[in-house]
Amino acid sequence: MSTPKQLSLSPATRAVQALHSLDERTGAVVPGIELSSTFARNADYALLGDYVYGRYGGPTTSHAESVIGALDGSAASLLFGSGMAAFVALLETLETGDHLVLPQVMYHGGLDWVRRLEAKRGIGVTLFDATDPDGLANAMREDTKLVWIESPTNPSWDVIDVAAAADIAHAAGALLAVDSTVAPPVTMQALTLGADVVFQSATKYLNGHSDLTGGVLSLAGDGPLAEELALVRKLQGSVMAPFDAWLLIRGMRTLYLRYEKSSANALAIAEHFDGHPAVEAVLYPGLPSHPGHEVAKRQMTGGFGGMLSLLLKGGEEAARDTARYCQVFFPATSLGGVESLIEHRKTVEGPHSLVAPNLLRLSVGIEDVNDLIGDLEQAMERAG
Ligand SMILES: Cc1ncc(COP(=O)(O)O)c(C=O)c1O
Repeated sequence: MSTPKQLSLSPATRAVQALHSLDERTGAVVPGIELSSTFARNADYALLGDYVYGRYGGPTTSHAESVIGALDGSAASLLFGSGMAAFVALLETLETGDHLVLPQVMYHGGLDWVRRLEAKRGIGVTLFDATDPDGLANAMREDTKLVWIESPTNPSWDVIDVAAAADIAHAAGALLAVDSTVAPPVTMQALTLGADVVFQSATKYLNGHSDLTGGVLSLAGDGPLAEELALVRKLQGSVMAPFDAWLLIRGMRTLYLRYEKSSANALAIAEHFDGHPAVEAVLYPGLPSHPGHEVAKRQMTGGFGGMLSLLLKGGEEAARDTARYCQVFFPATSLGGVESLIEHRKTVEGPHSLVAPNLLRLSVGIEDVNDLIGDLEQAMERAG
């Protein structure tokens, strides 16, 4: 790999060129893939290179981590086999008796894990209402070690002020971790806003093609936390595999373009259905009527993303039927891919879900927006 050192390049250029990847031996401008799960030593038993064994990490995963590090502006970035594996690794650094604060509406798998942690590991947990301006401050305790926030929050897309959350966490001596899956570094620089850790499910926008699962933790510092996380990942065996890392490098080359187009499409859909006779409300931070719009404008400088929810006037049945009758949107879970997805979120989350029964979550892709609007129109009309 050779990176032009004399130039100060934007993260967009660095992502497109996968850090100006160029194989000096062959001239290949596309990064190669290193699948080896073990790495040899010389006659003195010293390692020939920087790597030991696949479970500890390898060259292709390191390359992907360097690209993410350039995007996030991190001191260290660690890739895992899924977003949940990264989340679990971070929580593994807490000790019994520590206190953890999270929003009550966030990715439901994360909440499921936290409930286990509370019951089995004796970690204190307080959930706060992200729509209450004092919610986070009131949730803090003297023994709070970690504040985890998600912005915008899934699937209501409430916006949490990251800089304000960092001040609250730091004043109590806690770390702030931000789930930035829906607002990747293209639009929100969580570390610059004051977070200590930024998390993304790489399954989503970072990769963008719905063909791998992955998660990343990017850290503001490369001190003891980075070392502990690397150790946890090595012992848990949760590192991202080389082939997935290679796909991820390819996906990130178009991250900026994809995010821009998804954001433009989602805004057009939000504006179209705002005030529509079949729709009670559109939840999208890009709409000026959204309660988090002003904060979103300040902290999401590269677009409001492709995620939005529609609350249907016809209730749960109309929502489920609309999803069922779509022909362009795929009725599938996940988000952040080039193809548009629709789901009845309450059904997907199960009986514990706090999500409104008339809510449809859309992950808007990069298709022709008129096809997407037309599809929703015909499905809503059929659903009555
Ligand atoms: C906001 C958010 N955070 C975390 C996750 C978990 O990531 P993964 O599915 O890659 O484990 C998801 C998955 O849907 C998500 O949407």
